[in-house]
Amino acid sequence: MPTLSTLRTLTLALAITINRAQATVVVPYVSYIGPSPIGIPNEFVRNPVNESEGMYQGRIGVHLAIGTPPQHVWVPPHFYSSETYVKSVSLCDNYTIANPGGQIEYCESEYSGLFAANESSTFERSSERSFGVDAVSVFDAVPDLQNDEFRFGVQTTKDPNYVGENWGTLGLGPNSTFLNTFFPGKEQVGIYYTGGNSTHGKPAHSIPPRPLVIYELEFDGYNQSHYTGEKFTQPIGPPSTLSNSSNPFTLNVTNISIGQDGILGGAGSFIATVDLSGRTSTIFPSSVYDLFIAATGAEITNGMPSYNFSSLPTNPAEFFNLTLTFSDGFRDFSVSLPQDILITHFPGLPENPDFAMANILNADDPMVMRSWPVRGPVIALNQLMFTSYIGIDHSAGEWWLAKAVHPWDEPAPASTNNTPPEPKENTAAGGIGDNLKKAMVTASALAAAVILLC
Ligand SMILES: *[C@@H]1O[C@H](CO)[C@@H](O)[C@H](O)[C@H]1NC(C)=O
Ligand SMILES: *[C@@H]1O[C@H](CO)[C@@H](O)[C@H](O)[C@H]1NC(C)=O
Ligand SMILES: *[C@@H]1O[C@H](CO)[C@@H](O)[C@H](O)[C@H]1NC(C)=O
Ligand SMILES: *[C@@H]1O[C@H](CO)[C@@H](O)[C@H](O)[C@H]1NC(C)=O
Ligand SMILES: *[C@@H]1O[C@H](CO)[C@@H](O)[C@H](O)[C@H]1NC(C)=O
Ligand SMILES: *[C@@H]1O[C@H](CO)[C@@H](O)[C@H](O)[C@H]1NC(C)=O
Ligand SMILES: *[C@@H]1O[C@H](CO)[C@@H](O)[C@H](O)[C@H]1NC(C)=O
Ligand SMILES: *[C@@H]1O[C@H](CO)[C@@H](O)[C@H](O)[C@H]1NC(C)=O
Ligand SMILES: *[C@@H]1O[C@H](CO)[C@@H](O)[C@H](O)[C@H]1NC(C)=O
Ligand SMILES: *[C@@H]1O[C@H](CO)[C@@H](O)[C@H](O)[C@H]1NC(C)=O
Ligand SMILES: *[C@@H]1O[C@H](CO)[C@@H](O)[C@H](O)[C@H]1NC(C)=O
Repeated sequence: MPTLSTLRTLTLALAITINRAQATVVVPYVSYIGPSPIGIPNEFVRNPVNESEGMYQGRIGVHLAIGTPPQHVWVPPHFYSSETYVKSVSLCDNYTIANPGGQIEYCESEYSGLFAANESSTFERSSERSFGVDAVSVFDAVPDLQNDEFRFGVQTTKDPNYVGENWGTLGLGPNSTFLNTFFPGKEQVGIYYTGGNSTHGKPAHSIPPRPLVIYELEFDGYNQSHYTGEKFTQPIGPPSTLSNSSNPFTLNVTNISIGQDGILGGAGSFIATVDLSGRTSTIFPSSVYDLFIAATGAEITNGMPSYNFSSLPTNPAEFFNLTLTFSDGFRDFSVSLPQDILITHFPGLPENPDFAMANILNADDPMVMRSWPVRGPVIALNQLMFTSYIGIDHSAGEWWLAKAVHPWDEPAPASTNNTPPEPKENTAAGGIGDNLKKAMVTASALAAAVILLC
């Protein structure tokens, strides 16, 4: 039955269609990584933390304001799920009983925000179990995106098996409810790595940045000034046999090197699942992982390669830059992660101020096998995004990589000043950014951050 809100939706869709030639629609993918001072502001939080004690809640994903009055949740995009899910507030009902001494704030933070359907006057439960419709606005989207009858699921169970699966989902897969609602007939999404700054000034840049705009999702057309050169196009799917999450994005990895040394070893080539949801751990086959450890002289701490920061190469010609090469059978495409992004220093750790770590895991580590929904090698979004623009086109059944164009990529002017280009303040590329590093004071905070960012 057509309602006023349906009409408004149609009007919105029409307005967007008319403007299509000039506009892409930009949705920030943000991270408040917390603890202080870059956690989420209390106005977005159900259970505010006492900020004067230096703790804030963290969030990651696309910021949605759902219901009346609006409740704030963050949902990382999934490109193989078509539904959007938010986590139900009931998940924290028994938290303080099950975790004596635990605080409800930590429970809320763990889920990247919670939704209480019973507290929204506009929520309408749908006949389908766990689903409902409500008003939604996409926070900080440019131009504004809002709809009064957005359909989404409310999850009341968690999957305790998987790292990161406590978060909701912004379903951007084929037949996506989100895309059908806001961009009917369009099934294209661009992903642009911003280096921590919004390209549209929303949210405003601040120091320290609250939040960090890690990526921007571009709808209704790719922004052609954000990439250059030939596209490296791959079919979407079928899901990798290694996947347990229907993830249909894979790449054939035909070379990996540290600096000048190949570390693919006897493997020759392998198929890796590409995780576009924002997790930042790359997972190598064990033979490659072992060569990575050897090539970088790492020790293993909690299943991750660790370093004495003071012992890392300081001469750029000897840096442990990680380069991955993919092949489509006809041509190659390479992405590189510089050492200073690959290996994160945690200077605040009192017991070891020299501690540094690479966010690389071993696919055959039993803990990794238990903790990740994908079996086998995984290339994390950040590894690709640091230098690439990603286009996903469900209607064509294709996705592609192209060399990203960033403000800091501009060739340095041939002047006397040879300051290196900016974005070293970024968070996403290496997993853990400078601001967090500065905030890190305890090993437990480190463990939490690794979980949060994986
Ligand atoms: C594309 O990106 C550039 C640089 O970020 C921006 O100035 C421009 O407005 C964007 N174009 C569209 C159509 O959104
Ligand atoms: C917040 O923490 C500070 C310092 O521990 C304390 O003085 C203050 O009373 C607390 N405020 C609230 C509202 O609990
Ligand atoms: C809504 O449901 C949640 C979860 O069961 C509960 O904690 C909360 O008190 C309820 N809110 C109201 C206003 O009844
Ligand atoms: C919370 O505990 C009550 C009583 O034991 C139980 O009925 C309910 O299912 C629990 N809720 C959750 C979300 O675990
Ligand atoms: C998308 O929806 C159409 C129509 O409902 C259906 O025919 C098609 O199989 C769906 N595609 C996918 C990938 O689910
Ligand atoms: C996939 O996940 C399900 C549910 O968590 C589990 O039962 C199943 O064994 C997993 N399959 C594989 C191939 O890992
Ligand atoms: C590593 O990358 C940096 C740029 O971040 C470059 O200056 C350096 O030459 C590279 N070194 C190697 C060994 O590839
Ligand atoms: C892989 O890359 C390294 C470093 O560029 C190079 O030395 C090696 O020959 C390459 N291996 C293959 C199989 O292309
Ligand atoms: C790290 O290396 C530096 C310089 O070689 C050394 O002084 C320091 O003790 C080392 N730290 C640890 C924790 O081994
Ligand atoms: C991956 O690429 C290599 C080198 O081009 C090729 O030999 C291999 O068959 C490819 N693997 C798959 C599964 O396509
Ligand atoms: C982000 O924007 C601010 C303010 O415009 C600027 O000072 C800063 O250099 C930018 N950082 C990056 C990494 O582009």
